[in-house]
Amino acid sequence: MCSPSSIAQSFVRSSPSRIGRNVTVRRQAALRTLSTTSSSSNLTSTSTQPEPNPHLQVLLQNPELSENDATNELRWIVSEVRSHAAKEMARGRLPPIEDERVGQLVRRRAEGEPLQYILGSTDFGPLNLLCKKPVLIPRSETAHIFTLLSQSILSSISLLSSAARPKEPLSILDLCTGSACIPLLMTHLNPLCTVVGIDNSPAAVALGNANVQKLQMSERVKVRYGNVFSDPEALLLGAQLREGGRIGMVVSNPPYIPYDQYQDLPRSVRVYESPSALLGDGLRHYEPGRGLKFYERISQVLEDLLVEEEKMVNQGWSDIPRVAVEVGLGQATEVEDILRSSKGGVVGRTEVWKDQYGSDRMVVGWSR
Ligand SMILES: C[S@@+](CC[C@H](N)C(=O)[O-])C[C@H]1O[C@@H](n2cnc3c(N)ncnc32)[C@H](O)[C@@H]1O
Repeated sequence: MCSPSSIAQSFVRSSPSRIGRNVTVRRQAALRTLSTTSSSSNLTSTSTQPEPNPHLQVLLQNPELSENDATNELRWIVSEVRSHAAKEMARGRLPPIEDERVGQLVRRRAEGEPLQYILGSTDFGPLNLLCKKPVLIPRSETAHIFTLLSQSILSSISLLSSAARPKEPLSILDLCTGSACIPLLMTHLNPLCTVVGIDNSPAAVALGNANVQKLQMSERVKVRYGNVFSDPEALLLGAQLREGGRIGMVVSNPPYIPYDQYQDLPRSVRVYESPSALLGDGLRHYEPGRGLKFYERISQVLEDLLVEEEKMVNQGWSDIPRVAVEVGLGQATEVEDILRSSKGGVVGRTEVWKDQYGSDRMVVGWSR
């Protein structure tokens, strides 16, 4: 079964076999119900000799969709339209005519718009997050590696129910936060952390805040405007951390696609998702690079952002990673070198962690 995370949004390594691993049981159940409740509508026909479904024919004009993808995506679109109609009626409002509304959404998908933007949401690990063009659609690999990171942090401390657990929450700074997917996942998985997410896109800051509201996490997750290339003091000030203090850990899934690879991304990514969320050397195309500028910047400012290791240990946070960044294909070794040469020697040891598809996807750094 395919999911909204189609090949088109999986620019990181576009393997068709990865399609479909992001589907919630809830959505599947809804679809099962839909496909077994036959009606006169051509959307759910159970006739023994089915007519070609006109919506399916339109969807298949999108070259990124297989027939299987298109069949499943049509079901999701129908499901969404019905659920929206039910909500409108519950509010006493007349919903749009179902088949016309499905036709509109199908045409957008046929033109290549990612399904997540059309439906307005996506699953991210156990969470369901709002999506809005052009803010980057959170990827399942990101959910996987940041889940591993949260598990690693939790396993390094005393039981949460023990008196020996850390007295202070772990404060995390997420640079390039986008939809705030990483802060929301990390706080969801670890009740002992707080996260501030920074992004220089007003659209991302607005969407991140909408997600914080949706998941009612405003006590522990803040999303602020900020530029990774600004002075670290300004970054900390902009993050409005308690008492202007420093933080325990820096995490990031920064833009990392080199320009020469950007041109080969699926059209749905290039046309709909912001280039500034993707291009790792900035938007100045005439300066081809390896997509590593954000990692270089992070390694320059880490020392100014992080609390000293001694203080972390005193607070009960011993031997936890101090930095963790998602990386693109083939970048892990170079990013390890970049982080290990951080100013002030704050990263003494690094590891490369794999995503669920076996690709090197995250570089994690410890003080020692
Ligand atoms: C690859 S996206 C990651 C978004 C999110 N963390 C995720 O995993 O889905 C990178 C994000 O970096 C933001 N960004 C780009 N340049 C930036 C800069 N100089 N300072 C802060 N954020 C930046 C983009 O707006 C985008 O939201």
